[in-house]
Amino acid sequence: MSIAAVPPIERILFTEEQVNERVHEVAAAISKQYEGRDLKMIGVMKGSVYFLTALTRAMTIPVKIDFLAISSFASTRNSPGMVRIAKDLDEPIEGEDVLLVEDIVDTGLTARYLLQTLAGRAPNSLGIVTMLDRTSRRLIPLPIEFRCFEIPDYFVIGCGLDYKQRYRNLRYIAVMRQGV
Ligand code: IMP
Repeated sequence: MSIAAVPPIERILFTEEQVNERVHEVAAAISKQYEGRDLKMIGVMKGSVYFLTALTRAMTIPVKIDFLAISSFASTRNSPGMVRIAKDLDEPIEGEDVLLVEDIVDTGLTARYLLQTLAGRAPNSLGIVTMLDRTSRRLIPLPIEFRCFEIPDYFVIGCGLDYKQRYRNLRYIAVMRQGV
């Protein structure tokens, strides 16, 4: 199978400049809210790795990072499945101020599972920051403390988001072409 040299893009939703600008605004808001506290940011691999890196580099307070990886069962986009932790955190989070870092919150099932799991480990506080929020497909109500963009119901790639593990490294966020 050959890989297309040009990504299968219908149009660019947010340019690199627009993403950077929002990332800096959200980084400033988080830095202000957690000033003087000992914040740990938890990235969900692999999608949120690019966002977590950009966000923490733009923050002005010291921050710790850790990662977990999940795997989903029956996880096509239109049949959100069960989620389990495939790689757990390296360190406990008891008594810590924790922000879960997501690439996109769609149905909310993944985030809810992760928030419930992390809440069971007795952090001092627990919140969520997501690059993209697609509230139109939400299946369960979920409070989101920080987000960069709300998006309509398009499948998007870039800035960590993949299609079949590709295109995470695009510097912009793009709507995928239909019928790929
Ligand atoms: P949720 O559990 O339905 O909220 O799904 C969250 C996960 O689905 C994200 O972390 C992504 O891995 C994946 N996902 C949802 N929408 C998209 C998209 O538009 N592009 C790429 N991945 C997506």
